[in-house]
Order: sequence, then structure tokens, then C-alpha cells
Amino acid sequence: MARLVRYKALVTAIVLVTSEVAPFSKSGGLGDVCGALAAVLAVGGERVVTVSPWYRTHRQDARDTGIRLEIPLAGTVHVVAVHHRRIDRVDHLLLANPLYERDGLYGDSGGSFGDNHIRFALLCRAAIEAVRWVPLPKKPLGENVVFHANDWHAALVPVYLEALYRPLGLFRRTPTVLSLHNPAHQGRLPAVLFDDLELAPRWFRPSGLEFHGDLDLLKAGILQADQITTVSPTFAKEIVSPGGGFGLEAMLRHRAADLVGIVNGIDDAQWDPAVDPAIPARYDATHLEGKAACKAALQAELGLEVAADVPLLGSVGRLDPQKGIELLLDSVPWMVDQGAQVVILGSAAAAHARFEHRARELQAAFPRSVCAWIGFDEALSHRVEAGADLFLMPSLFEPCGLNQMYSMRYGTPPIVRRTGGLADTVAPFDLQTDSGTGFQFERVSGAAFREAIWRALDLWSADPAAFARLRQRGMTQDFSWAKAAPAYQAVYRAAWARRNPG
Ligand code: ADP
Ligand code: GLC
Repeated sequence: MARLVRYKALVTAIVLVTSEVAPFSKSGGLGDVCGALAAVLAVGGERVVTVSPWYRTHRQDARDTGIRLEIPLAGTVHVVAVHHRRIDRVDHLLLANPLYERDGLYGDSGGSFGDNHIRFALLCRAAIEAVRWVPLPKKPLGENVVFHANDWHAALVPVYLEALYRPLGLFRRTPTVLSLHNPAHQGRLPAVLFDDLELAPRWFRPSGLEFHGDLDLLKAGILQADQITTVSPTFAKEIVSPGGGFGLEAMLRHRAADLVGIVNGIDDAQWDPAVDPAIPARYDATHLEGKAACKAALQAELGLEVAADVPLLGSVGRLDPQKGIELLLDSVPWMVDQGAQVVILGSAAAAHARFEHRARELQAAFPRSVCAWIGFDEALSHRVEAGADLFLMPSLFEPCGLNQMYSMRYGTPPIVRRTGGLADTVAPFDLQTDSGTGFQFERVSGAAFREAIWRALDLWSADPAAFARLRQRGMTQDFSWAKAAPAYQAVYRAAWARRNPG
């Protein structure tokens, strides 16, 4: 208890550094999670400041603080104009710079931006400088903060602190936490780009940023952070297992004592079928008539036959190999053969554009049964979660995953591969014990996926009462941040204690 008091009394703020934060920017779960975690910690009494780029494509109102940070990178000085907006007790700092004036967050139709290492090194340096210089509201936060860096984009925060500031006597007692939302993406780049980061040559070593001859920003962050988290306990185990850590398993094993898996929560105010303004009819676990209306409206909206007795399978997400998109697309003709309708809402990065073409081809082949909606549409994602009977998420790997939780909350049992956060959040349906919240399969194979879909469709059509109970169990699960927020606070405390012993 003494430690808790000490931590609370000394830490002026948690500084969440991230490439995405809702409601300002979101391309996937990272934005949702950083936005919701910041808000829930603030409600719980923490002072929380987020630092993220003010992307042109996601520009929302924010006040210019007048502060200009000058950051040397890649041989030039980048001027960052710091903007501020306070929402739900969270101070959001948004960094304006020409490097963020692009047609995408990480890339455009031509692929990933070639200077992403500079764009996100700038985020890291500016986050550290913002803590020193931006008055919030009267004086800067100072060094008694905990930096919470997210994914590879922010992984240089612990590295820059160690390389540039601590040798000058600055930030010696300031702890860092690094969260791994998706360690498949590491900022692994050609070694020649190292010079752009303005670090001394000795940092290009295996103990620093060098990894098998390349530059690896996430790896360097893993070695330097005081504590490391990932977004589910099962994924925390997977990434230290042989072959499960995207090449980083040895590094992560080395840090295993400081690595913890914390399942994400969902924003249960935004994702609540009882009040959701994005869906045509509202419902809850005891009054499901509205769900039938949502299904009929979705079928009509998507140009599918409006029929209550035809099962509608939904999927929402990035069209990316991670999501098992090949399993899904390969199985669509079979699903149609089973008499099901399928809706796929998603978009692909330039490197995976072929998945968009294939989804469109499937729609052309089965226009009455399949809708491929290519693009990003937040409101439609709510209508799919509400209107579908079952939700498809056959991910090859999934650090946590949010859609399966949204779908359970909306009475749409998910069919998932037993991996990462999907294994932790979806309990397998068991007819004998009348338990579970969804359907699982394990093997990465179309046959195993289809067998799970078959079980789900069979229950849906043959035993509506058991299906209704399954649905109700999912709807009444607690997916709130109530458990995760104190778990993060425990990590901040541990990081603080490490830098401030005694
Ligand atoms: P990931 O972060 O790996 O993409 P998650 O399941 O954690 O996966 O989160 C994905 C988030 O992005 C969810 O909120 C999901 O609804 C949203 N999303 C993904 N693709 C789309 C899309 N095409 N339209 C609307 N929302 C989408
Ligand atoms: C990543 C993961 C996803 C997770 C999200 C938020 O993008 O792919 O599984 O839910 O981050 O933590």
C-alpha cells in the first residue's frame, strides 16, 4: 500500500504515446484502445495526456498552444506545432508537421511511406520534448511522468530517453512502459536508415537497434522499456514460444519477468445495442425484437434477400493475412452453398489489394448472397455487428481483437480461431453443459473453419432455444475496462518502483 501512495503522490501524469488515438485517429484497434484506456484511467483518477500526430486525413478541432518544438532528425530540424484538446478529462496533444500531411496514416495507394521511421521518430522525440515544454495548463508536466509507448511507432521513446536525455542527467527516474498491440509490425527497416534517427553509432548494435543486420525499432524498445505489456494473456504466452514472437521471441523471453498480458476492454457506451444511434432498432439481452429488425434492415441495405430464415454471416476488419482472410474468402462459396448470406466489410493496405479484388469477385459471383463492402465505415460496422446472426473471425494470430467482443455484446456469436485474445475472450459453446459464448476451431485449415461454421449454423437452425441462450450469455459478459484499468495501474506502479527504488 505504501508504494501505491508513493506512486500516486509522485507521478504527475501517464503520457500515452501512440500513432492512433480515438476519436482523433483510428485505422484499427490501436486507436480504439488508446482512446478508451486514456479515458478510463482519467475517470479512475489518473492524470492522462496522450501524444499523437495530427494527421491531415483525421483532422478534428484542437487549439494551437503556440508551442513549437524543434527536433533534429535526418539531417534537418523539424518544427512541430503542438495542438491541444481536452476530452473527458484527458489532455490530447496533437502534433502538426508536414510529415503528417499525407493521404493516409502509414501509407497510401502506393504502399507504406518510405519515411515512416522519421515520421514516428519525430513522434517519440516530440512526446519527450512536450513533457518538458508544453504548459498543461500553467506549467509543463516535468519528469515525474510515466511514458506509456504503444507499438513500434512509439518504441523509440525509451531508447531516446536512454540515449539522449539520461546521459545529461534528465529523466533518470522517469519510467517507461511499452505495449505490444501488434508485434508483427516492428519498424524493421534497412540498416542504412539508422543515420536518420540521430543516434550515436554505438546504438546500432544487437543491444540497441540492430537486428540481424537490419534496423528494428520495436526490438530496441523491448530491450529498453521498464515494463512490457501485450493485449491478452494467451498472446503473452504465444510470443515467448518458439515461432510465436515474429522473430522477437528470444528478446521477449529475456524480458519475460517484466511482460504481462492484459485483455483489452471495449468502450461499452459506444458499443451498446440498447442505445446505439448507428443501428436502426435498439435491443438488449432480454428484448431481442430489435435485433430481427436490424437484420432485415441490413439485408435490405446490402441488396441481399430480406429473409429472417436465411442465416447472415458477418465480418468486419482489415483484409490482411493476420485476420485469416484467405480462409474466409476461400470458404465463401461453401457458405453460400449452405444457404447462408455473407457480408464482408473491410479494406486492405496496398500490399494486400488482391483481397479486395477477390471479395468483389465473390460478390459478383453471388450477388444475392454475398456483399463485399470495401472501405472503412464506422456506422456500417455497428449495423453489421447488430444485423448478422454469426460473426466470422478466423484470425491466424490475434493479440486481442475487439470485433469478437463487439459481436458478443450485440448478440452475434463469433466463430473464431483459438488463438491469442480470441482464446481468452470467447468461451467455446458446449451443448452438454449449455455453456460458452461462441464457436472455436484450432487448426489453420479451411476444413476446420467450415466445420466450426457448420456447427454454428446447425445450432442456429436446429435449436433456436439453445442458440438464444448462447446469444444471451455473450450479451451479458463484462467486457468493460473495469478489470484492465487497474491492471495497467499495477504495471505503471511496477515501472515506477523500478526506476525509483526504496
Ligand atoms: P486490428 O486492430 O488488428 O485491426 P481489432 O479487432 O482490435 O483489430 O480492431 C479493429 C477495429 O477497427 C474495430 O473497431 C473494427 O470495427 C474497426 N474496423 C476495421 N476495419 C473496419 C472497416 N472496414 N470499417 C469500419 N470499422 C473497421
Ligand atoms: C492490434 C491487434 C488487435 C488488438 C489491437 C488493439 O491491432 O491486431 O488484436 O485488438 O491491436 O490492442
